[in-house]
Amino acid sequence: MFPTHRPRRLRRSDAMRDLVRETHIRADDFIYPMFVQETSKEAEPIPSMPGQMRHTIDSLLAAAEETVEAGVKAIMLFGIPAEKDEAGSQAFAEDGIVQRAFRALKDRGFPLELIADVCMCEYTSHGHCGVIREGDVHNDPTLDLLAKTAVSQVQAGADVVAPSDMMDGRVAAIRKALDGIGREDVPILSYAVKYASAFYGPFRDAADSAPQFGDRRSYQMDPPNVREGIKEALADIEEGADIVMVKPALAYLDVIRAVKERTHVPVAAYNVSGEYAMIEFAAKAGVLDRERIIGEVLVSIKRAGADLIFTYHAVEVARWLK
Ligand code: PBG
Repeated sequence: MFPTHRPRRLRRSDAMRDLVRETHIRADDFIYPMFVQETSKEAEPIPSMPGQMRHTIDSLLAAAEETVEAGVKAIMLFGIPAEKDEAGSQAFAEDGIVQRAFRALKDRGFPLELIADVCMCEYTSHGHCGVIREGDVHNDPTLDLLAKTAVSQVQAGADVVAPSDMMDGRVAAIRKALDGIGREDVPILSYAVKYASAFYGPFRDAADSAPQFGDRRSYQMDPPNVREGIKEALADIEEGADIVMVKPALAYLDVIRAVKERTHVPVAAYNVSGEYAMIEFAAKAGVLDRERIIGEVLVSIKRAGADLIFTYHAVEVARWLK
């Protein structure tokens, strides 16, 4: 009897393939990242991320409604303030753009988990993720700003806070600050394993947050390292992180797997702007089958071990899955 094994038997029909499929993506896995800005009265398309918008609060509410209708359960919000300053003070201003947006979303009572990206880089004039001293981001003074930012976002209505700055000790600082205002119920989703990646390029156009000097390599991780990523994840869990994230996703699938195997909290992965843009522009050029590529990418992130996926394709794919 040759050959002994005929794996093709289980690939013969759609039904059979469905029966033996090992990995599934669901709308419940997705978190949809959205941008809200206060410079323009109109929502603006983001040229580097075709299909994504810099919203006004009104257009954000309409888009949130569509997100709910598609079956997505969570969004993450990035704010783009009209004025940036050295300290990034709009990050924690009571009437800051993100705070107003959270209040408006909360008022509408959408059945959505509202996740706040906690970082300074969209709000600082220099574009770095914290306080600058002697040409570099100064760690410990930045922790106070991050904690203040998280508190103000939660007071405005955020359900979850997601620090993305990569300062050491920020999870503990944020946990302490939230507990201090009686919000021990708010989870921290830490961008624990965040690499200094060129895949964030389109996002920095969208959020106008490219560093004005230098780069982020003194605080974000060096791409060749994976054991260091496990150390980062374990440290954040020890400080109180409820969910840890690996970012970007596609070039770091091995890291997602490693973190999954070494931790016992949900693992998130961020399919970032550059990964999104590669698909959109390649599809526009007619060189690949857009829908199949999107599905293949998302399932690969899930297969690597991600429980949650941040993706700009969330709403569209959730509609396909209905
Ligand atoms: C920092 C932040 C960034 C992203 C999410 N949070 C940018 C950066 O670190 O430069 C990138 C997301 C993406 O590329 O889709 N606030």
